[in-house]
Amino acid sequence: MLSKDRANFGSKIGIILASAGSAVGLGNIWRFPCEVGSNGGAAFILIYLLCITFLGIPVMVSEFLIGRHSRANTASAYQILAPGTHWKWLGLMGVVAAFLILSYYAVVAGWTLEYTFASAADRFSGEKDFTGFFNNFVSNPWKPAACMALFLLLTHIVIVRGVKEGIEKFSKIMMPMLLLIICMLVICSFSMPGSIEGLTFLLKPDFSKVTTKVVLSAMGQAFFSLSLGMGCLCTYASYFSDEANLMKTAASVASIDTLVAIMAGFIIFPAVYSVQGLSPDAGPGLVFVTLPNVFRIAFGNVPWLGYIFSLMFYVLLVLAALTSTISLHEVSTAYIHESYGISRKQAARIVTGICIFLGIFCSLSFGILSDTTWMGMTVFDLFDFVTAKLIMPLGGMLICIFTGWYLDRRLVQAEVTNRGRLRLPFFGIYIFILRYVAPLAIGIIFVNELLK
Ligand code: PHE
Repeated sequence: MLSKDRANFGSKIGIILASAGSAVGLGNIWRFPCEVGSNGGAAFILIYLLCITFLGIPVMVSEFLIGRHSRANTASAYQILAPGTHWKWLGLMGVVAAFLILSYYAVVAGWTLEYTFASAADRFSGEKDFTGFFNNFVSNPWKPAACMALFLLLTHIVIVRGVKEGIEKFSKIMMPMLLLIICMLVICSFSMPGSIEGLTFLLKPDFSKVTTKVVLSAMGQAFFSLSLGMGCLCTYASYFSDEANLMKTAASVASIDTLVAIMAGFIIFPAVYSVQGLSPDAGPGLVFVTLPNVFRIAFGNVPWLGYIFSLMFYVLLVLAALTSTISLHEVSTAYIHESYGISRKQAARIVTGICIFLGIFCSLSFGILSDTTWMGMTVFDLFDFVTAKLIMPLGGMLICIFTGWYLDRRLVQAEVTNRGRLRLPFFGIYIFILRYVAPLAIGIIFVNELLK
C-alpha cells in the first residue's frame, strides 16, 4: 500500500497549518499557562524558548525527514529506512503512544466541549461555586464519557474524509479561526483593569526561581507542545511534497506553536490578575475553575461581554484540541490502513472504537475509578505518565540517535536540502545537536523524570 499514489497535502500553507494544528493544542492553552504559573513566569518562558530552538526544531526536522523519505506511516517508516533491524520498535512505540494519548487527551477535550455548551447556554452566569461545578461534572459517570466519545466522533468525521479533503481542508479553516479568536481574546484581556500586573508576571524574569526541576519541566513541555517523539509529525511529513522546505516548515510550526502558547499566557494572566484574590498558580484548574470565575466576576456589570469572552475562549480550546486529536488519530489510522491493507474508513473505525473504549476508563478515573490506582496513579494519570514522561522523551532521544548516527549522512543531507536544491548553512550544527546535544539533554530529562 506504500505506493506512489499515496495521498499528499496540496499546498505549502496546508502543510504548515496541518502540522501547526497538531502542535497547537491543549498543551499550549491549558498546560503551558499552568506550567508558567507554577514555575516562576518569564524565567520559565526563556528556558522554554531555548528548548524549542535547540532541541525541538532539530527533532522536528528529523521526524519530517524520516516521514518524507519513507513516505509511509510511522511504523513502516523505520522498516523501510532500517530493514531487518530493531528500529521498527521505535515506530511501533509511536503508534502505541498515539492510542494512549488520544484516549486521555480526548477526555480533557470532551471537558472543553461541555464548557462550550455551558458557556453557550449561559449556565455560568448564575454559578458561584466553580470548583463544585467542575468536580460534579468530571466525576459524573456518563456526561464526561459522552463528551469524550462525541469529541472522538468529530475527529473521526475529519479523518475519514482523507488527507487532503479532511485534514488539510479542516486545518485551513480551523487554524485561521483559532488565530483570530486568540487575537481578539488578547485585546479583551489587555483592556481589563489591573491587567498590567499579569503582564509583569509574564514578562519579568526572576532567575532565582530557576531550578533543575524548572529546566526539566520546560523541556518536557516543549516536546509535548510540539507533538514530538511519537511519530505524529513523521506521519504528516509522509504526505509532504518533495518541494517542502523541511527546516523552514519546522521553524514556522515551532514559531506558531510558541506564539499561541505565549498569547494564551497573555489572555489568562492579565485576566486572572484583574480579579483580586485569585491565584495564577492554580494548576490544572486554571482553565476550568479559575477562568470561569474571572469571566463572571470581571464582567459582573457587563454580563454580555463575559458571555462572549467565555464562549470564545472555550471554542478556542475545542478548535485547538480538535486539530491535535486529528493528528493523533491519523498516526494509528495510517498504520492500520497501510500495514494491514484495511480500507481507511474501516481503519478509522477501529481506532475510534478502541480510543472510546480506553477513554471510558480514563474518564471514570475522575469518578468511580478514582480509587483504582497503580503505583498511586489512576488510569488517566498512568496513560499520561507512560506517554508524556516515558515514550515521548525516549522516542525523541532515539529519533536523534537514529538520524544522527544510524542514517547515512548523505541521505539526511539530501532530504533536508531537497536533493541539493536548497542551501543549508546550519547543516553542521544540526548534525552536532542530533548526535550529542539532544540525546544527552533528553537523556537527562528522562532519567530525572523516572527518578522523581
Ligand atoms: N502538541 C499537542 C498539544 O500541545 C499535544 C500532542 C502531543 C498532539 C502529541 C499530538 C501528539 O496539545
